[in-house]
Amino acid sequence: MIMLKLKNLFKQDEHKVDLENLPQHIGIIMDGNGRWAKKRGLPRSGGHAAGAKTFEKIIEDAGDIGIKVVTVYAFSTENWSRPKDEVDALMSLLEDYLDNGLERIAGRDVKIHFIGDSAAFSDKFQKKLAHMEKATRDNGGLLLNVALNYGGRAELTNAVKQIAEEVKNGEINPDEITEDTISKHLYTSGQPDPDLIIRPSGEFRLSNFLMWQGAYSELWFSDCLWPDFSKKELLEAISDYQKRNRRFGGV
Ligand code: IPE
Ligand code: IPE
Ligand code: MG
Repeated sequence: MIMLKLKNLFKQDEHKVDLENLPQHIGIIMDGNGRWAKKRGLPRSGGHAAGAKTFEKIIEDAGDIGIKVVTVYAFSTENWSRPKDEVDALMSLLEDYLDNGLERIAGRDVKIHFIGDSAAFSDKFQKKLAHMEKATRDNGGLLLNVALNYGGRAELTNAVKQIAEEVKNGEINPDEITEDTISKHLYTSGQPDPDLIIRPSGEFRLSNFLMWQGAYSELWFSDCLWPDFSKKELLEAISDYQKRNRRFGGV
């Protein structure tokens, strides 16, 4: 009897979501690890370790729900300004994911794509990024963009540089540059823009995340700190998104 009740409760959560009207692309700013750790008297690195577990769980949940593209903000161009021991802790968690993540997502139809300026990383690290992308490139289920050393402004600056080179080489005329030209020079080229951007931790800002792509994204904020974020919050965000009236400047 109790089992049945629990089952129904879970189903109710799922039922709040209309599977016919899912956001195609969800962006997630995985924020609040430091405060989560502080509340427990742990070092900030403990919060990042807990946050890394949440990341893996939420990716599974997003795939199960049927989301096609997820972009997670893992490390920003501004996060280098943190104390060295914290940056080192984050890098070793990332390295652990690069070394063992494939085993952990085995059997899951996830294609991994890293977005951001990877040139900042060591050759060894860059090889691991490339290996993970290559090993998952034929998976057609969930496309997972992991934003590493990512900044929306840096991404646009990079796009402008590439387009300027093409103009210089006579490959394109300045008059021919359109919004589409710019989109095609971003790390997310060819992907749909995020329909929904989720930011937990009680902050109401984008912190340089998907500045171009998020022009018409629906935003969802929550006080929940990232390590505590679960499928329940994900479903709540999707369900809330489904009640929005997206007008894109129309009526
Ligand atoms: C997000 O959590 C993780 C990264 C930025 C890498 P924070 O470390 O920003 O956690 P708070 O915001 O300090 O709580
Ligand atoms: C955004 O969080 C970056 C990531 C989650 C990777 P931050 O904690 O760096 O953002 P601010 O400093 O609160 O704006
Ligand atoms: Mg933060």
